[in-house]
Amino acid sequence: MTDLNEGILTITINRPEKLNALNQQVQKELDQVFDEVNSNDEIRGVILTGAGPKAFVAGADISEFTSFTSEQAKAMSENGHRIFNKIESTSKPVIAAVNGFALGGGCELAMACHLRIASENAKFGQPEINLGIIPGYGGTQRFPRYAGKGKAIELLLTGDMISAQEALDLGLVNYVTSIEELLPKCKSILDKIKTKSSLVIDQIIACVNAHFEKGEDGFAIEIDEFSRCMNTEDFKEGTAAFLEKRAPIFKGK
Ligand code: COA
Repeated sequence: MTDLNEGILTITINRPEKLNALNQQVQKELDQVFDEVNSNDEIRGVILTGAGPKAFVAGADISEFTSFTSEQAKAMSENGHRIFNKIESTSKPVIAAVNGFALGGGCELAMACHLRIASENAKFGQPEINLGIIPGYGGTQRFPRYAGKGKAIELLLTGDMISAQEALDLGLVNYVTSIEELLPKCKSILDKIKTKSSLVIDQIIACVNAHFEKGEDGFAIEIDEFSRCMNTEDFKEGTAAFLEKRAPIFKGK
């Protein structure tokens, strides 16, 4: 379910009766909607959330993979990685509005977003170990980046959940809000970001991902991207506006 309002696309995963568990259909729709996010210039930012009062996403849909062969499991994991990498490298800012359980694939999905904002009732965890499996959508890699290696290994090995406040203390989420304030807080951050240069937003996401997600030399990529900024109209506008003591109007050129 999607809604585009003032340049902000809200994507709501809508299977509340199954706590928004990610089945193949939901993943296919996520894949398609993020192609649209990348290609549609009217979309300046994305909020990703879950329907209903209980869950963001309670994981991959367990009922779909109980009798998988190793080959099928590999294809499932590769597909999930491909979609989550697409979300993470989206050129527009993507905020996970975590409105309840973010478990397994749900926690992994939230971590593939650029920012995470949680309501007070949110719970995070990678409980796959309780099912006799490991995370398959990037949890062993992204969880340590956000929660730190020691805490991430503890949570991956125990399968324990943590509260929104604990997630905030670890740096896994950016803010914790009341349930009512969750979407307005996401929107206010995106409203601020969307006044900036879309070129620069894209470059910053690419530079940060270069090191953290792709294992590339992020410093070298930053040098290249910085030099590319000098040829843009947005750079001329930004510096001119500063000197003229006015707000810049960026055009993404
Ligand atoms: N896959 C498939 N179905 C799921 C699901 C998942 N990951 N998570 C929840 N559901 C379904 C339940 O089977 C139940 O369906 P039913 O009403 O047809 O029986 C429905 O969603 C509601 O869940 P329920 O377990 O009754 O809610 P609860 O409040 O008692 O417990 C959780 C909530 C999140 C603690 C519990 O649902 C849970 O542990 N889910 C699995 C989490 C997990 O292991 N995720 C990683 C998967 S790889």
